[in-house]
Amino acid sequence: MHELCVNPDIQSRLRKEILDTIKTHGDLTYEAVQDMKYLNMVVSETLRKYPLTPLIQRECESDYTIPETGIVIEKGVGILISQHGLHWDPKYFPNPEKFDPERFSDENRQKIPSYVYLPFGDGPRNCIGERFGLLSTKLGIIHIIQNFKVERNSLTQEPLQFGRSPLLRAKNGIRLTFQHL
Ligand code: HEM
Repeated sequence: MHELCVNPDIQSRLRKEILDTIKTHGDLTYEAVQDMKYLNMVVSETLRKYPLTPLIQRECESDYTIPETGIVIEKGVGILISQHGLHWDPKYFPNPEKFDPERFSDENRQKIPSYVYLPFGDGPRNCIGERFGLLSTKLGIIHIIQNFKVERNSLTQEPLQFGRSPLLRAKNGIRLTFQHL
């Protein structure tokens, strides 16, 4: 909602897609949500810029030598993988502070190397709620954007500031105005 507020062009394009797709499908069905490609791009970019968890934890199962460096990670060693570090690395996501859903167009998404974009983790211990989380997030956005214009007010902060916490949380809240359409 914050990014849609500070990027009104993206908000308008998203609203148009939502209204057009519901019209085409005749109702807000599961298939209609799956058909909303731009919504998927917006949510993907949101989870890139604002990963819910800053770190993923793993434990090394067997000694592993990192080929380029010769450094050995020994069995039993705890590993922290920084999602935030990867998602904000300009090598993979140029101009990382820019909210740009085009990074996740069908064409561009394929160019992102494996294990760089990790909003739900990866491997056998990835998030079990990924599809449910995405669907409920999208339904929330659809209902709000269909009915409200999201605008700045005097308390809106850009860029958002975050404190240190296990889950990402805006330090001073997310202050927006919802104007009924
Ligand atoms: C947008 C919403 C969500 C995000 C961004 C998210 C993100 C994550 C991440 C990053 C992990 C760690 C994965 C890893 O270590 O590789 C995780 C694990 C997990 N998530 Fe989610 N999650 C979301 C929604 C949900 C929902 C809705 C549920 C339950 C219905 C759920 C249940 C779990 C569980 C049980 C784990 C632990 C899996 C394991 O250790 O085997 N998550 N999630």
